[in-house]
Amino acid sequence: IQPDSNGVSEWAAAYIVKRIRERKACCNRPFVLGLPTGSTPLGTYKALIRYCQEGAVSFADVITFNMDEYVGIPREHPESYHSFMWNNFFSHIDIKPENVNILNGNAPDLTEECASYEERIEAAGGIDLFMGGIGADGHLAFNEPFSSLKSRTRVKTLTKDTIIANSRFFGGDVNLVPKTALTVGVGTVMSAREVMILTMGHNKARALAEGVEGAYNHQWTISALQTHPAGIIVCDEDATDEL
Ligand code: GLP
Repeated sequence: IQPDSNGVSEWAAAYIVKRIRERKACCNRPFVLGLPTGSTPLGTYKALIRYCQEGAVSFADVITFNMDEYVGIPREHPESYHSFMWNNFFSHIDIKPENVNILNGNAPDLTEECASYEERIEAAGGIDLFMGGIGADGHLAFNEPFSSLKSRTRVKTLTKDTIIANSRFFGGDVNLVPKTALTVGVGTVMSAREVMILTMGHNKARALAEGVEGAYNHQWTISALQTHPAGIIVCDEDATDEL
C-alpha cells in the first residue's frame, strides 16, 4: 500500500526493473512481460521510460504480450490498444518491435488469432510477470464478471458498464466504443509466474475488497489472484477504503 498513485507507479516500475535486471544477470533468456492499458499503468510506463532513458534498464531482451485489444477499430485508431501502447510506452524505449505482441482485433479469423496468441506465449517460454489493472467491477483485462476463472484468450462481449466507463476515451459517445474485444483469459494471466495488479483511487475500492477479502468467484474475476502463488497487489490508500 502506497500513500498515493505516484507511489504505486514508482513501486511497480522499480519492481519490473529489478526483475529484468535479475534476469539479465542470471541467464541469457529474454524476460517475458505481460502488459495492460488503461489510465492506471500510465505513471508506471512514464517511470519505466525514465529508467530506460537514464540507462538503468534495457528492454532489448524483453518480450511483451498485451492483455487485450478492441475488435473492429483500425490498428491506427488513436484509441486502439495498439496505438495506446506505442504512444505511451514502446516508442520511447529500446524494445525491438518484433518482440512486441498485441492481439489483432482485425484478424480475419478471431478464434484462430486467440489460439495462436496462446501458442506464441508458450513459445516464448510463458509470461514471467503479468502486470494488470482492474475495472470498477473487478474485471481483469476484459474478463468481465462471470468469465470462467480458467478462461484462455478469446473474444469477449463487453458489459454496458465497461462500455460506459471506456466512452471517456471516445468523446463520451458510447456508440463509438467497440462492443467486443479480444482478451487473454483469467487462466492466461494466472499462468504467469508472477502477477502484479495495480489499483488506484476510491472507485476501485469495492473491487479491491471483493478481490482480496471476498470469496474466490467468477463475479469478481480479480479474486482469482487469491490462488496465485506469487500474486502482488500494489495500491494507493484510496483504493483500500473498503478493506
Ligand atoms: C479496461 C482494460 C483493463 C483495465 C481497465 C481499467 O477495461 N481492458 O485492462 O484494467 O480498463 O482501466 P483504468 O486503469 O483506466 O481504470
